[in-house]
Order: sequence, then structure tokens, then C-alpha cells
Amino acid sequence: TVERTLVLVKPDGVRRGLIGEVISRFERKGLKIVAMKMLRLSREKAMEFYSVHKDKPFFKDLVDFMTSGPIVAMILEGDSVISVVRQMIGSTDGRKAQPGTIRGDFALSVQENVVHASDSPESFERESKVIFSDEDYVNY
Ligand code: CMP
Repeated sequence: TVERTLVLVKPDGVRRGLIGEVISRFERKGLKIVAMKMLRLSREKAMEFYSVHKDKPFFKDLVDFMTSGPIVAMILEGDSVISVVRQMIGSTDGRKAQPGTIRGDFALSVQENVVHASDSPESFERESKVIFSDEDYVNY
């Protein structure tokens, strides 16, 4: 089934010059980019985006981190793209993520883990609306 997912290159990924590396992996996999933008999240948007974690002890640090610099957001489309992209990014904790995954190859932290990707169709619906509007999608 063709699905869509939301991917963010987080502020650490942008600072480290990994935007191209991340996009390149998804392109080589055969996934289609149907929307993309670079932006800096406001505190309000970051809190809304990560609202499921609002009661976690790491929530404030996460919001501070996610607003510390620009991010690159993209919507990817492809067969089973949600689970495919989750496999390609690896476990949340960069120290535990498998080599060959984005986090396994580029992250050594649980917070500064280079990328985010939606974990379900419901998360995609919610998260994509925090960042993108209907006009941002390109048909091709
Ligand atoms: P992400 O996949 O974007 O989803 C929630 C984010 O919170 C996660 O990646 C990390 O950046 C961060 N995070 C998750 N767990 C922890 C933790 N235990 N300590 C600090 N940050 C965390």
C-alpha cells in the first residue's frame, strides 16, 4: 500500500551538514519527496509537534533542542513508507541503533539523533499538519 510519512532532519543534522546524506538515502531507496521545506520551529509548534511527550522528563530539553536551529521537513511517499523509513532511521538511541541505519551511522545520543519520522498513519496525519499545508504538496 502506498503511504506517506513525515521526516525531519533535526537541528543537529542540519548543523552537521547531513541534509544531503539523509535525503540521498531516501532518494536511493526509491521514495518520492512530495513536499519539502527548511524552517525554524517556534516553541509553540515544537510543543504541539511533540505533544505526546509533554509529560516526559525530557520534554523541555527536547523542545529547547528542536528550536535551537533550522530543520528540514519532508513528506515521503512510497509502498509501506512508514515502516520502511522507520527501519532506515534505526532505534531512537543512537548508541543502540544498528550500523547501516541513519542514527546507527551518524548519532551517539538519544536526543540529538539527526532525524525524526512518523511512527504510524495517525502520527503522520497529526504531525504533517503541524508543519505543512495542502498547498505545500507537489503533484508529479
Ligand atoms: P523522535 O523520534 O523525534 O521522538 C521523540 C524524541 O524525543 C526522540 O526522537 C528524541 O530526540 C527525544 N527522546 C526520546 N527519548 C529520550 C530520552 N530518554 N531522553 C532524551 N530525549 C529523548
